[in-house]
Amino acid sequence: MIDKNEKTILAIDTSCDETSVAITRGRRVMANVIYSQILIHKKWGGVVPSLAKRAHEERIDLVVDEALGKIGGGTDTLEKKIDAIAVTQGPGLAIALEVGMKKAKQLSLTYKKPIIAVNHLEGHIYSPFVQNSKGNPARVPEFPMLAVVVSGGHTELVYLEKDLSYVILGETVDDAAGEALDKAAKMLGLGYPGGPVIETLSRNAMDMDYYHFPRPMIKNQDLMFSFSGLKTALYYFLKKMSPEETAGHIGEIASSFQAAVFDTLIIKTRRALKANRVKCLSVGGGVAANRNLRDRMRNIAKEFGIPAYFPPYKYLNGDNAAMIGLVAGLKEKRKMYVSEIEAFDRIPRYPLPKHSL
Ligand code: KG4
Ligand code: ZN
Repeated sequence: MIDKNEKTILAIDTSCDETSVAITRGRRVMANVIYSQILIHKKWGGVVPSLAKRAHEERIDLVVDEALGKIGGGTDTLEKKIDAIAVTQGPGLAIALEVGMKKAKQLSLTYKKPIIAVNHLEGHIYSPFVQNSKGNPARVPEFPMLAVVVSGGHTELVYLEKDLSYVILGETVDDAAGEALDKAAKMLGLGYPGGPVIETLSRNAMDMDYYHFPRPMIKNQDLMFSFSGLKTALYYFLKKMSPEETAGHIGEIASSFQAAVFDTLIIKTRRALKANRVKCLSVGGGVAANRNLRDRMRNIAKEFGIPAYFPPYKYLNGDNAAMIGLVAGLKEKRKMYVSEIEAFDRIPRYPLPKHSL
């Protein structure tokens, strides 16, 4: 049953290389449209901000219309059915964020709807709890909760005492986990994005950790991560190999690199669980799509007798506006609206907000 008091939100995310618009009610997604730019950026081996901006600009109106079309369409759908506009304010690429924010402001002013600002990381943290339009899966966030965000831009361990309350326990001091996988794939000539290719190659490796690359930062007792040294280790390792040798051992190299990244994530997550009593573990972000990482995260949660939750539908691993809509729903209940719409601006390095709840 949909709660009658639940407001309907139109959410926009243009933080990186997906143009996404969703329509949500509470945790339910009534519509979600994602236009991926992967094909545009693939040939450059990574996201090119100016191309991302242009692609967002070209598609944003279309994506908004398509999402509205899924809940009835017609010119007055926005006016009659939408209660608030949510948008990702950061972190992300400045000129990409700008496109979504401009659209949000325009819709807000034209249709007189409040704007709710969402931090992209809040979205990934809550992504395991997004539901389809029928309310599945029924799982609810249990607090306190430990959230792990592993994406192309972030590696974060976050403690939530309650809804919307964030304490960062650990994060990366340089490259993010997904970025490390992408850079390794680039060095190995495997294309972009690297995570999925490395996962596929790893499945066929005879020994998943044949080369046993260093596990960065595990001797430090803190919960910080660093993956750039691991990338350098791979660089020097490859320098000693001929292209034929590399090609002949590609599965072992890829899987050993993945094992080093994931071991580090697992060791630090276990440490965070030891130090903080929590009721559930949530894992979100592009890298959370990885089966091997999911199995390993599930296993450590089991050690602590708690459930581990991952994004329940494939599209929720990567960037999407549905997770932004869910967070906006929580903020809507607290009337956390943007007060000065004209002055509302993107924050490319937006840290997790300290809400006064
Ligand atoms: O969340 P996301 O789509 O975008 C950011 O907010 O960064 O994450 C993208 C990252 C990329 O680094 C990509 O290589 C990684 O997620 N990724 C994966 C897998 N699928 C995507 N990493 C490991 N295994 C996968 N199956
Ligand atoms: Zn993301």
